[in-house]
Amino acid sequence: MRVLGLETSCDETGIALYDSKQGLLAHRVYSQIALHAEYGGVVPELASRDHVRKALPLIREVLHEAGLTLAELDGVAYTSGPGLVGALLVGACLGRSLAWALDLPAIGVHHMEGHLLAPMLEDNPPAFPFIALLVSGGHTQLVQVDGIGRYTLLGESLDDAAGEAFDKAAKMMGLPYPGGPALSALATLGDEKRFKFPRPMTDRPGLDFSFSGLKTRVRTTILECAVDGVLAEQDKADISACFQAAVVDTLAIKCKRAMQQTGINRLIIAGGVGANKRLREKLRTTAEALGGAVFYPRPELCTDNGAMIAYAGTQRLLAGEHSDLAVSVVPRWPM
Ligand code: KG4
Ligand code: ZN
Repeated sequence: MRVLGLETSCDETGIALYDSKQGLLAHRVYSQIALHAEYGGVVPELASRDHVRKALPLIREVLHEAGLTLAELDGVAYTSGPGLVGALLVGACLGRSLAWALDLPAIGVHHMEGHLLAPMLEDNPPAFPFIALLVSGGHTQLVQVDGIGRYTLLGESLDDAAGEAFDKAAKMMGLPYPGGPALSALATLGDEKRFKFPRPMTDRPGLDFSFSGLKTRVRTTILECAVDGVLAEQDKADISACFQAAVVDTLAIKCKRAMQQTGINRLIIAGGVGANKRLREKLRTTAEALGGAVFYPRPELCTDNGAMIAYAGTQRLLAGEHSDLAVSVVPRWPM
């Protein structure tokens, strides 16, 4: 089965072609980062309009790269939530309409299911069951994955998502948007032992997270260090290093706890924060210490992309599911 995947839930237009026998045939991601940078965050209306502009040309590009025509597709998958409602509607309307015009089945996919299953696109995919750490700008969740569609939420953030905390901490230090990559780059120049940042909620049982306190800690540390309201570059680097180490340690402690509680020692990392090198290294040693292994999608499949939606949609279409003609999206949609 050959499926076209469309991801338009936030600020990336992701388009991909997935074949259930041959794997990923082609994919393209157009990031709107430059469009939103001057506002310091995603402007929903601008995001929708840009998806409208980019989606069809990108579909033509992936078809061209795969040497296929629309007539050779067997299904269409699109992200139907969670996300920005206007942005979701662009992909959903386009995907559903294309499928109708081509007389193909269509399926709306949960964005986080896409992230969860992204490691399945790689050459050595993990066997079920595995533990998934989903860390993006909107989510921080630990999920037990027993198979396609068989997900148990083990824990999640009670306030800010890890990526959101990275972005907000970066913004407080005046780093460019999006803050996560900028902060982690700066952290490589800093001393992660200079300030004592907490590892929130690690001293009590359970698998939930809280990152808003760390953000407050960044704010108070900035106030302590700033001279006449100006923060020296080394202070920024040190705060970045201490903040990153605190987030990474906290995530690693909870991943270890989840693996120990479930007896499952395969760990997969998904979502944009999964691109963080320090986190990758720490989780690798954590999983290996438990005799297990950690699986990552390649960085471009960690952040939002159409390939993960095409993959998840293919599995659902193969299982006989499909969405009806009335296009619906679910901006807030628990997994
Ligand atoms: O999954 P994603 O592309 O979008 C959604 O939120 O769904 O994740 C984006 C998030 C942003 O918060 C971004 O700052 C963060 O991932 N991120 C990083 C890194 N690269 C992206 N955070 C920390 N370190 C990174 N290297
Ligand atoms: Zn995402």
